[in-house]
Amino acid sequence: MPRTAETTAGTHQITDIGALEILDSRGRPTLQVNVTLATGATGAAGVPSGASTGSREAVERRDSDQGRYRGLGVLDAVGAVNGEIAQRLSGRGWHDLAEIDAALIDLDGTPGKARLGANAVVGVSMACARALSAAAGRELWEWLTPPEIAPRLPVPHFNVINGGVHAPNPLDFQEFMIAPLGARTLAEAVRAGAEIYSALRDLLASQGQVTALGDEGGFAPQLAEPEDVLSLVVTAITTAGYPAGRDGVAIALDPASSEFRLEDGRYQVAGQKLTSAEMIERYAEMIDRFPVWLIEDGLAEDDWAGWADLTRRLGERVQLVGDDIFVTNPEIIADAIGRGAANAALIKVNQIGTVTETLEAMATCRRGGYAQLVSHRSGETTDSFIADLAVGSGCGELKAGAPARGERVAKYNRLLEIAAARPDLPYGLITPPNMRR
Ligand code: PGA
Ligand code: ZN
Repeated sequence: MPRTAETTAGTHQITDIGALEILDSRGRPTLQVNVTLATGATGAAGVPSGASTGSREAVERRDSDQGRYRGLGVLDAVGAVNGEIAQRLSGRGWHDLAEIDAALIDLDGTPGKARLGANAVVGVSMACARALSAAAGRELWEWLTPPEIAPRLPVPHFNVINGGVHAPNPLDFQEFMIAPLGARTLAEAVRAGAEIYSALRDLLASQGQVTALGDEGGFAPQLAEPEDVLSLVVTAITTAGYPAGRDGVAIALDPASSEFRLEDGRYQVAGQKLTSAEMIERYAEMIDRFPVWLIEDGLAEDDWAGWADLTRRLGERVQLVGDDIFVTNPEIIADAIGRGAANAALIKVNQIGTVTETLEAMATCRRGGYAQLVSHRSGETTDSFIADLAVGSGCGELKAGAPARGERVAKYNRLLEIAAARPDLPYGLITPPNMRR
């Protein structure tokens, strides 16, 4: 006898699941996944895609048919959702998302979700999360909140200057972000971000710089030295009328240094070749001179010894976030905690490939005393899942690009919507941050 919603009380029946090929913010193909439950509840998801990827990330499936989208089509991944995955998930009852995600992992059968495609799997996982939250009559962020966690509105980290593989300029560091740590509310933080972004545009224009944008909506000036950019950003903060520093608007860096590491293990910054130890001292000087509160991927993903040195040297002064080195993988994060590498992890759902494993990665961080910075990818859609994840996980930190461009502001606007609906939610970092002031 076929099982129906009625005969499997307490479980969720997926009646329809399908994907289609859509475009991301770089104009490359990605997936949209739509899920319908027997109750009529629905969920959809747009799948993000990175450019400066970690080598241990879950693996995106691309068609490699050079005749379509330069080999970047995702029709095979769409086919996996509409075929194998739909077959596996339909026609039975599921207790929760963890059970669905475990079935996806099992069906794929590879460590990196390469067979079905991590882009297919993560889209299904996110769409199922949305459908289950709708079935429960809850907002996604509420539904994602673990029982022991108090939800909060995160500090938005606005990426205002782009370099590295995200922009065609001579800047090796990938991201310069502004973080309104001292704002009293999320709305004030968003306003500060947007006003500083405008001040920065005027400043660049007044210096004869181009105000063209990089992939995450930040400006992409023809500057090479990171310190020159830091001065510029501090000027923009103060010109817009905000105090630069942890009580006002601080700066966060994502050099994404795996991208400028040389074969011989040194790092090439503005033409200079630096050892790990020299990179660490360069960061120390930046922290002395500028209000930098966070450095992500300061060293490369395979420079574990360097990471431990970096953490010993600067871990009490700034938040050190592992992105390429951890790839949102609970096992790698647990290993890092044991080795004393970093004091925080970047959290990207598509890096590990399911929502359940993402929540595990965040729980691993909490147990080890590591902070968490929820993150978008450089290739995005208007899906705002990560805004809900940041609020529901109570981690206090989100980076979603510039306060401009539709796919970036979709996340900040979702935060504003949640803040307006729930003025009781606290805003800001989980205090005290795990470091000296
Ligand atoms: P990516 O960049 O999405 O291109 O990987 C974001 C980051 O490095 O944080
Ligand atoms: Zn990064």
